[in-house]
Amino acid sequence: MKFRTLITAATFGLTAVAAAYAAEPQEMRQEMMKHVGGATGAMAKMVKGEDDFDQAKVIEALTTISKTMAEFPAQFPEGTETGMETEAAPAIWENKADFEAKAIALKDAADAGIASPPSDVDGLKAMFGPLTKNCGSCHETYRLKKEG
Ligand code: HEC
Repeated sequence: MKFRTLITAATFGLTAVAAAYAAEPQEMRQEMMKHVGGATGAMAKMVKGEDDFDQAKVIEALTTISKTMAEFPAQFPEGTETGMETEAAPAIWENKADFEAKAIALKDAADAGIASPPSDVDGLKAMFGPLTKNCGSCHETYRLKKEG
């Protein structure tokens, strides 16, 4: 039952974090992306050999990514195109369906990893590359590059 406990803990954690978010969608989505970045970073450390491979931590990270990406596209209502140092590109509001598809593609990749988790670092490496391609493929179109 360890697996179930882990998922429940991760879900609860995210809900608690969501409740603690400020009301502004711009802040909410930046906070969500920080969580996705943190989860990705935890797996990257294992890939690079800086941390030992830990399947439970991989599943936890993938669960964070999956849950977050399910809610991420809802954080871009009309009227939140600017403000709060958002890096969201105007293209999001011009291509909502494509933007959402890219969010779901990452969620699906995370879900596939949860359903069939890697059992060693080589398995993690095989999964990590394709999974993180989803980050760049969305950012290049839908995230503004910071100046300077
Ligand atoms: C569906 C599109 C999409 C996908 C997929 C995506 N991102 Fe993002 N990401 C964004 C957008 C849009 C922003 C800017 C949000 C804002 O500033 O309002 C962003 C911002 C970020 C930030 C900066 C957060 C901050 O403000 O401090 C990080 C870190 C990040 N993404 C990491 C990742 C990683 C890692 C992945 C892949 C595992 C990923 N993202 C996948 C769209 C995406």
